[in-house]
Amino acid sequence: MDMSTTLRSYLYVPCDKARMIDKSLILDSDAVIFDLEDAVAGSRKQIARENLVSRTTAIKASNKPTLVRVNGVDSPFFSEDLAACLEVGVWGIVVPKADADALRYVDKEISSSTSRNRDIRIIPLIETAYALETISEIVTVSDRIAAAQFGAEDFTDDLGIERTVAGDEISYARNRFAIACRGRGKGAVDTPCTDFHDSDTLLRDIHRARAAGMTGKTCIHPSQIAVVNDAFLPSEKEVIESSHIWELWKSAVSAGDGTVVYHGKMIDRPIAMRAERVVNIAKRHGLTLSPDSQYYQAQTRTSGYDNGTT
Ligand code: COA
Ligand code: MG
Repeated sequence: MDMSTTLRSYLYVPCDKARMIDKSLILDSDAVIFDLEDAVAGSRKQIARENLVSRTTAIKASNKPTLVRVNGVDSPFFSEDLAACLEVGVWGIVVPKADADALRYVDKEISSSTSRNRDIRIIPLIETAYALETISEIVTVSDRIAAAQFGAEDFTDDLGIERTVAGDEISYARNRFAIACRGRGKGAVDTPCTDFHDSDTLLRDIHRARAAGMTGKTCIHPSQIAVVNDAFLPSEKEVIESSHIWELWKSAVSAGDGTVVYHGKMIDRPIAMRAERVVNIAKRHGLTLSPDSQYYQAQTRTSGYDNGTT
């Protein structure tokens, strides 16, 4: 399974904004997506590419999975965008308005290049009704596909439906998207919350994304990173309960029992396995349960390369 399933936060950065690029490399997001597409005006595409290439050393030094959202394959910018990505040696590229044919083309362009930086993942952006309908083909069309991102703004526009804060209109799409990605062992990355001043709205949005099976979420502002990182980890309650259930289950199995009761509820193998998964995530993140505090504490800050949610 690709490590993309363990990345929680992906910070979008308009690539023509040099100050934001430099800042993004030292922020706590698990991954960064430098945008060459919609956040950059047509007249600034070249500046944006130059900003990217000139930061090759800093990008490598950041030790962060760095992605670039290129312009669409049918745009006049795509070839130069891809050339810049190959020059830098980025971790992955996000392909907007993806469909299977476009992705085959991108895969071929990367594979046939003579660059030594061809080890590039592809993250299709699912943002049309057609893409959602063909998502099983999309996520398996190339071995380079490590994850996919859901783009709700273009998706709802494509359907001609209203986009609301609550997001009922995207709940089916989120479910379908996440199941298709997870069913193939790929990361499922949620659409950004555009209301970046309101952390309550963001939290509600994340809870819906997690409930659908998303493994991570895109951010558009630094203030969203910590909220996303924390919300994609188990809560203190989950960790405490899971540790109890896992210990209880192990004792039961040693004593030859297949089920055990915890606070009036039956615990059997799948429930115990889920508890073990939560305990393992907590361990991987150095989350400890303090006897003095109601809240667990992250003893070590995690890097993008070791922060599993699965
Ligand atoms: N990445 C890195 N740094 C960012 C950032 C980002 N996405 N968004 C804001 N910052 C920085 C600003 O540079 C500023 O830093 P400074 O004070 O050291 O100069 C600080 O965070 C506070 O920024 P703020 O003033 O609150 O935001 P803003 O009004 O300048 O910008 C947005 C708001 C939404 C325009 C901006 O956050 C943005 O461009 N986000 C990404 C948009 C994008 O890429 N969209 C495409 C994908 S959906
Ligand atoms: Mg879009």
